[in-house]
Amino acid sequence: MAVHMHGRIGESIKRKEDGRFLRGKGSYLDDFVLPGMLHMAILRSPHAHARIMSVDTSAASAMPGVIAVVTGDLMAQHKLAWMPTLSGDTQAVLATDKVRFQGQEVAAVVAETKYQAEDARDAIVIEYEILPAVTSPDGAKAAGAALVRDEKEGQKDNHIYHWESGDQAKTQAAFAKAHKVVRLHTFYPRCHPAPLETCGCIADVNGATGKATIYMTSQAPHAIRTVFALVTGLPEQQIRIISPDIGGGFGNKVPVYPGYVVATAASLLIGRPVKWVEDRSENLISTGFARDFHMTGDLAVDEKGKMLALRVHLDSDNGAFFSDAQPSKFKAGLFHIVTGSYDIPTAHVTADGYYTNKAPGGVAFRCSFRVTEASYLIERLVTNAAIELGIDQAEFRMSNFIKPEQFPYTSATGWVYDSGDYPKAMDLALQKLGYDDLRKDVEARRKKGEVTGIGIASFTEVVGAGHGADFDILGLRMFDSAELRVHPTGKALLRMGTKSQGQGHETTFAQIVTEELGIPAADVAVEEGDTDTAPYGLGTYASRSTPVAGAATAMVSRKLREKARKIASHLLEAAEEDLEWEAGKFYVKGSPDRAKTIQDIAFAAYTNLPEGMEAGLEGVHYYDPPNMTYPFGTYAVVVDVDKGTGQVKVRRMVAVDDCGVRINPMIVEGQIHGGLTEGFGIAFMELITFDSDGNCIGSNFMDYLLPTAWETPKFELGETTTPSPHHPLGAKGVGESATVGSPAAYVNAVIDALSPYGITNIDMPIGPDKVWAALRSKGVTE
Ligand code: CDP
Repeated sequence: MAVHMHGRIGESIKRKEDGRFLRGKGSYLDDFVLPGMLHMAILRSPHAHARIMSVDTSAASAMPGVIAVVTGDLMAQHKLAWMPTLSGDTQAVLATDKVRFQGQEVAAVVAETKYQAEDARDAIVIEYEILPAVTSPDGAKAAGAALVRDEKEGQKDNHIYHWESGDQAKTQAAFAKAHKVVRLHTFYPRCHPAPLETCGCIADVNGATGKATIYMTSQAPHAIRTVFALVTGLPEQQIRIISPDIGGGFGNKVPVYPGYVVATAASLLIGRPVKWVEDRSENLISTGFARDFHMTGDLAVDEKGKMLALRVHLDSDNGAFFSDAQPSKFKAGLFHIVTGSYDIPTAHVTADGYYTNKAPGGVAFRCSFRVTEASYLIERLVTNAAIELGIDQAEFRMSNFIKPEQFPYTSATGWVYDSGDYPKAMDLALQKLGYDDLRKDVEARRKKGEVTGIGIASFTEVVGAGHGADFDILGLRMFDSAELRVHPTGKALLRMGTKSQGQGHETTFAQIVTEELGIPAADVAVEEGDTDTAPYGLGTYASRSTPVAGAATAMVSRKLREKARKIASHLLEAAEEDLEWEAGKFYVKGSPDRAKTIQDIAFAAYTNLPEGMEAGLEGVHYYDPPNMTYPFGTYAVVVDVDKGTGQVKVRRMVAVDDCGVRINPMIVEGQIHGGLTEGFGIAFMELITFDSDGNCIGSNFMDYLLPTAWETPKFELGETTTPSPHHPLGAKGVGESATVGSPAAYVNAVIDALSPYGITNIDMPIGPDKVWAALRSKGVTE
């Protein structure tokens, strides 16, 4: 009889970590108080672009409680005024020559209390000579534009990179034969991951041992440790990064920020721990933003509505330093996945990056390195094409989808999609929505003068970076790791190179051990985030944890199961090949009563081993995936627009996701709900923008609008399961699918609603003002 093993794959067990979170017992950075700890406050530039004429710290230095005032010149004396970025550029730690964005770090004060540090910071006097600001790629290209990076040798303009993918000649030839070409120019505006907990660190350099322990809100502690070793010259074993509980990251907590470097240098020089925690405005104004892509897409189709070719150009606004967090090879991230779910024979993608006087750090905000922008462009373009061609949006997608039998499918830009069944996800979404009836209803309502529409997006993602041959960050190959140690009583400790920020890793990764090794999830403690104890890994972002570290967990569990088999054979006095494995035990074929549980075997691993066998039951696995995983889905949205106010109301939102095998379906649904909410925020509310002087608008929650339960629509979820053929469990990542796929679905619904009036595009966020103005421009008033 099969034993029920609590917590196996597919079970929605409750989250193990919630016990401490719900009781207020999580340990977040700001909870840590170390003996003798000092506090640091950072002075930031009020200007977007200005030359620093003088820095006067005398008044600040004399204020009560002040231990040190740190300037760029002081950092320069220690060769720390500049640091390398994740994209191979350089970034100012504290400005020495000029400031290049509003909010840039200029000086810092270290004092006994946070208030003393902030008061003294405000007493630092800086004299600036204001320079003209560059606030867009167009501005960056303009003749006579101010040079943002005048300190870089050989940098004569604001251009950072040119990058291409696909086949230009073949694409041009296909366009020459096209029956119709549909163009969309759209801007995916700058938004911000805005995690609930801001970024910060406590640097504690021990003067006696020289060991630097840095508590940090980092999604990638190991990579940060290596970068720190390279920047500071400290030996890597003398650096310990501890990422405690993290209150949301969404990509924002991947980069190295100047505050970390200054706090560490200050602790090293002063010999006491130094704590720095950003406030909300500092987080929004200066840390890793997302998107800011200006995109133009041309889709060529034949007379039957078959897609022939795609041509895309993008201008990327990278801010003052090129510090995007993405794999080294791909200058525009994974944007060249832009052919999406469609069987487009040829494509050509070009990208140019520009320096501007804006905060640096385009991060993967709940997305796999720019797949969000790519997905948005193709899904918006496909809906616009359907409208222009007079073909139903769903039908146009269906007839151009990559077919299930075409997998593994090589896209025109070289991606090898592992598996997919796009028609199935679409069918389920349409069926849940009642699409055919709704379409008729839309027509009927429009006849009555109502403004209403349906939007569809059938996204394909690319997650699980990645195979080390193609994916690295600063040369570090993007594998990930799991180390599993089974104690004599059969309880286990699983340590990983990833780092949860709320995704429930302590539960789902324990479930993988349950599935593979039969130890109940409750008996598996999962630890992440301490570089002194966890195996080396590249961290958690871009939905890579399950595809990479989840696979490592399965592999290490299997390794231990093989050793367990040998021990069981010894205990049962039966040949290894005569043993059968069944959740949690080995038994002799044909004699189910002659069995040894994994707990019996674990005990024997320390007490009663076969002759010559090494003691213990533990191992480590570094997993370099053979390919990425390609989750997908179809999202469908129904909106009603108020002609009088431009207000958009989301009436329905159906989301069908396929992330292969689901480890914990409840956690997956939670991830999707969160992503759909963030997608809603991006589509309708969230915006970091700048005036012509480069002043940042959106640096507080009065201006940067996050959706609350009040605005957020109800979500109706659906699921299909197409396993990944190369992942040991068939699982694909899911954390960000909904943020990637949903913005286009929301916007497509609005554009469908406005299409009878000839409106073809409104850039996000779609506030009532923009909708009202668009309708009014077409003479629609109420
Ligand atoms: O890298 P990150 O944790 O942000 O993303 P993920 O790998 O997509 O996982 C998000 C959460 O959903 C984790 O707790 C996963 O283990 C869980 N998940 C799952 O239960 N089944 C899947 N097929 C994918 C993710």
